[in-house]
Amino acid sequence: MSYSILVVEDEPVLRQSLAELLSGEGYQVETRGDGQSALDCLLERGFDAIITDVRMPEMDGHTLLGHAQRIAPQTPVIVITAYGTVQSAVAMMRAGACDYLLKPVNFDDLLLKLERALQHRELLTTRQVLTEQLAAESTFHDLVGESPPMTRLFDTVRKLSTVKSTVLLMGESGTGKELFARAIHYNGITRDKPFVAVNCGAIPESLIESELFGHRRGSFTGAIRDKTGYFVAANHGTLFLDEISTLPMPMQSALLRALEQRAVVPVGDTRAQPVDLRIVAASNRNLDQMVEQGTFREDLLYRLAVVRLELPPLRRRRSDIPGLVYHFLGKYTRQMNKHVLGVSNAAMRAMLAHEWRGNVRELENAIERAVIFAEDRTIEIEDLPFASSCGELDDDENLKDALRQFERQHILDCLKRHHYDKAAVAARLGIGTSSLYRKLDELDIPKTPPEKPAPAPEAH
Ligand SMILES: Nc1ncnc2c1ncn2[C@@H]1O[C@H](COP(=O)(O)OP(=O)(O)OP(=O)(O)O)[C@@H](O)[C@H]1O
Ligand SMILES: [Mg+2]
Repeated sequence: MSYSILVVEDEPVLRQSLAELLSGEGYQVETRGDGQSALDCLLERGFDAIITDVRMPEMDGHTLLGHAQRIAPQTPVIVITAYGTVQSAVAMMRAGACDYLLKPVNFDDLLLKLERALQHRELLTTRQVLTEQLAAESTFHDLVGESPPMTRLFDTVRKLSTVKSTVLLMGESGTGKELFARAIHYNGITRDKPFVAVNCGAIPESLIESELFGHRRGSFTGAIRDKTGYFVAANHGTLFLDEISTLPMPMQSALLRALEQRAVVPVGDTRAQPVDLRIVAASNRNLDQMVEQGTFREDLLYRLAVVRLELPPLRRRRSDIPGLVYHFLGKYTRQMNKHVLGVSNAAMRAMLAHEWRGNVRELENAIERAVIFAEDRTIEIEDLPFASSCGELDDDENLKDALRQFERQHILDCLKRHHYDKAAVAARLGIGTSSLYRKLDELDIPKTPPEKPAPAPEAH
């Protein structure tokens, strides 16, 4: 059986040679010179794969890709982009292209990628079934973490599964607040009811009340029909109120009232509509501080924080980094149908040492990018976006050594910060003093500060 391929390319010479090459390899080829006629063609019949240029008149490859994903989501799309526009390749991969080729097109490369895309397509159907099964079984919705703080959080989520108590998630940007909100919902008793996520910061102030509580027809200019608010839409399920700190004061009061009365009054109505749902609120700003400053209602904070979960920044739970790295590596190699051999020790060490101000999101983006650059090889330091800021690291040690070195540095830093007060350091690390002494021996860490010249008098 021969596969049918749709080639979309506006340059006649390249289009012709692609067609000849592919027919020569036994593929059935159809060619089109722009996105629009390619789309017409797709509406008429199916193909096993599509190869498309990005820049074209009429309709560009990006738009075509979007249509193809809707009309024929199982058909792999390989895009051809001009050299030096890796950014556009990344954008296309994000939009769902399965691979990309840079111009001038290397024909061997093209055949290889096409073959891989076709193989992948065969696997896809089986895999889709498998992933859906896995997703249904995975209790924590892709939440990765083995560090003590994460394990404690997972325990709490488990305990929350039988109740509908209001939960407040606090944590820096990218620490996983939304993922936790979903985990709470999908592990709980209301998992088969709606989960509705609302970003409070994204709704214009004048519309928040009607978005949350709904409105009656004619209640304000533009309200041409009755509208159901998010509270009612999420009824019996979970309403996730993200960026709760952005709610203006009057809305904070209205929310408090709704929570206390378990009912909402749509704008333009007088009757309250009872609601029964779980509220999960999230904030990356410190709400306690906002209460002190008078910008967040204290009573609302108490009402929301029936259960309060603090998601620690990634730099406070570095032992989760390797697990997350491999998790995202798996995710993106699968998603982009790429083959990556692994992560070099030096790269892993650099990631263990990095600050991760953007937390897990930053790590995820770093791996997504590295997967694109490190095709068919190991991810190296140079593939990381912060490569230039990495210190000297040699490559020939294994990961265990890397972790050991990281642990050693961490304890050493702690000792310095606490002026070699072992009891304080042990408490900071959450281990007993005797365990600390054992670690010091094991990791060859001096128990007293190195000899220094006498301190200058003003140092004290
Ligand atoms: N523990 C984790 N395991 C796996 N993936 C995670 C974990 N935590 C976060 N992520 C991923 O990191 C990204 C950011 O997470 P999420 O959107 O939940 O963060 P957030 O705290 O809501 O951030 P923001 O405050 O910026 O909205 C997501 O893609 C999410 O899937
Ligand atoms: Mg979020």
